[in-house]
Amino acid sequence: MNEENIRELMRWYLDAGVDETISDAPVDRFTAAEQSAVFASQAEPDAAKASQAVPDAAKPSPGKSDKAGKPQDQKPRQDNTLPQGAEAAIHTAVSLASAANSVEELRSALESFDGCPLRKTATNLVFVDGNPAAKILFVGEGPGADEDLQGLPFVGPGGQLLDRMLASIGLDRQSVLISNTVFWRPPGNRTPTTAEIAICMPFVERLIDVVDPDILIALGGAAAKTLLAQSQGIGRLRGKWFPYSSPRLPRPIDAMAMFHPAYLLRSPGQKREAWRDMLMLKQKLTE
Ligand code: URA
Repeated sequence: MNEENIRELMRWYLDAGVDETISDAPVDRFTAAEQSAVFASQAEPDAAKASQAVPDAAKPSPGKSDKAGKPQDQKPRQDNTLPQGAEAAIHTAVSLASAANSVEELRSALESFDGCPLRKTATNLVFVDGNPAAKILFVGEGPGADEDLQGLPFVGPGGQLLDRMLASIGLDRQSVLISNTVFWRPPGNRTPTTAEIAICMPFVERLIDVVDPDILIALGGAAAKTLLAQSQGIGRLRGKWFPYSSPRLPRPIDAMAMFHPAYLLRSPGQKREAWRDMLMLKQKLTE
């Protein structure tokens, strides 16, 4: 192939939306065995023997898949089976997360954790932004390209809208803490798989324990289903308070789902509902 052909091929890839490489060699993701291999390569030697179950909240919910989060470039894995190695990774995640007693200890634990395959393709760990002592914890789906580059959650266009939504009720990043259900960017902004969410979930649950917020907000359908353990779509879940309980919390936390800011950018007609949800949040803060 001469240079001009290569340039044309690159232009063709760019036009098709392929604008970054994610590994040194091509991977045929249509072959299930390949995906297992990614996990297997990261598994501990006794991976297959680990008996840690998938947390209930991370299992796929029945019903229609939610389209209200980020653009769905690829379908998430929709069955209950975990790729080889994922169980061992969850097991390690549980022991690392439960030994952490602060947000900073959780960050260190995540930095040392190589059980999530998303880490291989991401530029940076994206853990939290804001104030660990805040009363409100927002949890989104997973980092996008901007977040991956900066190592901070919600810094892209969706994050800028989130900042404006916070400002509309007198809040800012110092009055909240912001995180995600997975801590590394899924390649091409695809939806995180069930296994990826399950592997990160012990850290998310421990984050909620150590922050112990008064209010937990799930941003988008994927985070809502995971955290609220509900099967309905975001359109039905949003705008209602649910109790979020954990054995290590002194009491249930008031939790609510809201539309994901990236969805609001694509569907501005839904901003009215989002505004209602922000007013509910503001009201809750005065109770
Ligand atoms: N979308 C998310 O769900 N989280 C981010 O951090 C950015 C975009």
